[in-house]
Amino acid sequence: MDDVHKTNAIKELKKEFETLTEGIHNKDELERLKVKFLGRKGEIRSLFGKMKDVAIEQKKEFGAGINDLKGFVERRLQSLLDSFSVGSSEKDNKNYCDLTLPGINFSIGHQHPVTQVIDDLLEIFRSLNFDVLGGMEIEDTFHNFDALNIHKWHPSRNAQDTFYLDPEHILRTQTSAMQIRAMESGKLPLRIITMGRCYRRDASDATHYPVFHQIEGLVVDKNVNFCDLSGILTEMMTGVFGKRVEVRFQPSYFPFVEPGAETFISCPFCNQKGCSICQNTGVIELGGSGMVHPQVLRNVGIDPKVYRGFAFGWGIERIAMLKYQINDIRLFYENNINFLEQF
Ligand code: DAH
Repeated sequence: MDDVHKTNAIKELKKEFETLTEGIHNKDELERLKVKFLGRKGEIRSLFGKMKDVAIEQKKEFGAGINDLKGFVERRLQSLLDSFSVGSSEKDNKNYCDLTLPGINFSIGHQHPVTQVIDDLLEIFRSLNFDVLGGMEIEDTFHNFDALNIHKWHPSRNAQDTFYLDPEHILRTQTSAMQIRAMESGKLPLRIITMGRCYRRDASDATHYPVFHQIEGLVVDKNVNFCDLSGILTEMMTGVFGKRVEVRFQPSYFPFVEPGAETFISCPFCNQKGCSICQNTGVIELGGSGMVHPQVLRNVGIDPKVYRGFAFGWGIERIAMLKYQINDIRLFYENNINFLEQF
């Protein structure tokens, strides 16, 4: 073996060792590398084996070179072993679990914005001492129309507006039907709200959807009037928006209330100065309300000379759209996670 060859053999083995160390990730791999280089039949032993081919005068230098390499390999293997120290053997284990790491957050769902408004309303009306009634989405035409003074010829009864299951049963078009059921129960005085889905055969657009929610309120007592209605609605909307709002009525017609009113609140976003949300009017229209029509009271056997009532029925999506400034009702029902996660 000439000089060049022997130095090359040592250098090459060192290079190979260094390359292999880069691929070491755990103790098992480290052990295999150790055997390959330092083992009884390992690379370093076999280099020593080549000693016999080396000229006498070069043996010393060649041997020293191998010893240097051996020392280098041993130190390197030891430092790798150290880096896989305490805990690292556990990391090699597939089932290893480091309890000190921060946990993975599971994305848990949250309430739909419409449900959030429903919950807000529930809390507000419970604090005002109202009872909460459930409701039925399949109604008969008596409760949804007749008893509410909606005459046989009224356009809202049209099959183009209402989903009929049979000539006497429909998907309710308004929660006002529950006014009748509440009064039929015979318990007086009454102070109730009910909330739930209503259905109309509307083509959907930014403000209409065939399914939507309403909140209906009804108070029947011996001495109630429009001021009480105004007070309740003020409390309700002040609660929803978290700041004082004023209520304004504009005469309107609903067959089951007299007088009836379209109900507005002062715009909670601009303090009536005028903004894009209230279209520069300073007020926002929210729904219908009024004093229960004496004929409706009679329809359920309540004497209008003794009892009076007031009622209101508002769209919950409309309230939610205002509260969260959403400009398209369809967003509530598309189940787009990116949209829903904002609330
Ligand atoms: N039910 C009516 C509708 O869906 C809203 C309504 C108006 C309800 C006046 C009421 C009321 O209780 O008094 O359009």
